[in-house]
Amino acid sequence: MRAVVCNEFGPIEQLTLEDRPDPAAGRGEIVVEVHAAGVNFPDGLTVRGEYQVKPPCPFTPGSEVAGIVRQLGEGVSRLAIGDRVVALCGMGGFAEQVTAQADRAMRLPDNMDFETASGFMLVYGTSLHGLQECGRLQAGETLLVLGAAGGVGLAAVEVGRAMGARVIAAASSDEKLALARTHGAELTINYATADLKTELKRIAPAGVDVVYDPVGGALTEAAVRGLAWGGRLLVVGFAAGDIPKLPLNLLLLREGEAKGVFWGTWTQRDPAAHARNVKQLFDWFSAGAVKPHVSAAYPLEKTSDALAEVMGRRAQGKVVVVPTR
Ligand SMILES: NC(=O)c1ccc[n+]([C@@H]2O[C@H](COP(=O)([O-])OP(=O)(O)OC[C@H]3O[C@@H](n4cnc5c(N)ncnc54)[C@H](OP(=O)(O)O)[C@@H]3O)[C@@H](O)[C@H]2O)c1
Repeated sequence: MRAVVCNEFGPIEQLTLEDRPDPAAGRGEIVVEVHAAGVNFPDGLTVRGEYQVKPPCPFTPGSEVAGIVRQLGEGVSRLAIGDRVVALCGMGGFAEQVTAQADRAMRLPDNMDFETASGFMLVYGTSLHGLQECGRLQAGETLLVLGAAGGVGLAAVEVGRAMGARVIAAASSDEKLALARTHGAELTINYATADLKTELKRIAPAGVDVVYDPVGGALTEAAVRGLAWGGRLLVVGFAAGDIPKLPLNLLLLREGEAKGVFWGTWTQRDPAAHARNVKQLFDWFSAGAVKPHVSAAYPLEKTSDALAEVMGRRAQGKVVVVPTR
């Protein structure tokens, strides 16, 4: 089979496309014929050796795929050969086939195509877990989403709206904000042309109840200054590159909270709650309450271009890789 290979940590452009032996399913595993693989920011960080998880080289990046089950390992009875699934494979997704733990794979709703599915689980899963379990977002509350047209950001806009919140989207261009509006944002802030703290005071004078922050850098403190009494900051990621330091008096003054969100680890620590959230997300998808936006699909040999689009701040919604193209 063809697979994208990272032979050593470094620039994304160093990735190569190689012929590799077809994988075999071990105990508790399945082999998925990959029809699409979601491109996520952590995939790029992993290739550059900048992610908290550093796999031994060589390895194939790609952490979530959608496709068809082609092999069942010993002890797998929950799935059948031929099932359409989405699988969290951890690594190896940018390839024609990948192994995954069977309990990290879910059957797809009939009306969800592979490209949509491959970019669905990680971003919507993170956003629902972040807003629901970590942020305790309530209907009628105000939610501020930073990086609101990116992968997890746009999902947070939709999930927040589906949970009944009033959503303020903040992003770096009017085009990105227009996209966030079509996905449910009621108010918008362009933080490339306006000061986030000042704009927040103007459009949400009573403060926001929850901040969903996958960006970090200088935006985090500005957003925390706009928190309402009892407001919650959700620390999701640092796409801007800088891990912010926060003056804690900002939390004391409003009895605010800062809460980390680490979806991947949480799904393994609480699989029952994760399964409930997946069902909720699939139900919302089937009802049209969330409408995933796939903005670009690349063939396998262009995987480094797909990663560069995401890491280069150009992506809107999801970018996916399609090995069958
Ligand atoms: N905690 C978790 O469980 C979890 C799960 C998934 C992802 N994450 C993290 O969440 C973050 C976003 O992931 P994603 O897949 O949604 O990425 P993405 O689609 O690339 O979105 C990231 C957004 O960050 C903003 N940004 C600001 N400065 C940037 C820069 N220098 N380079 C790139 N983007 C920049 C961009 O929006 P603007 O241009 O509008 O500013 C961009 O849309 C990453 O740090 C990722 O590791 C965390």
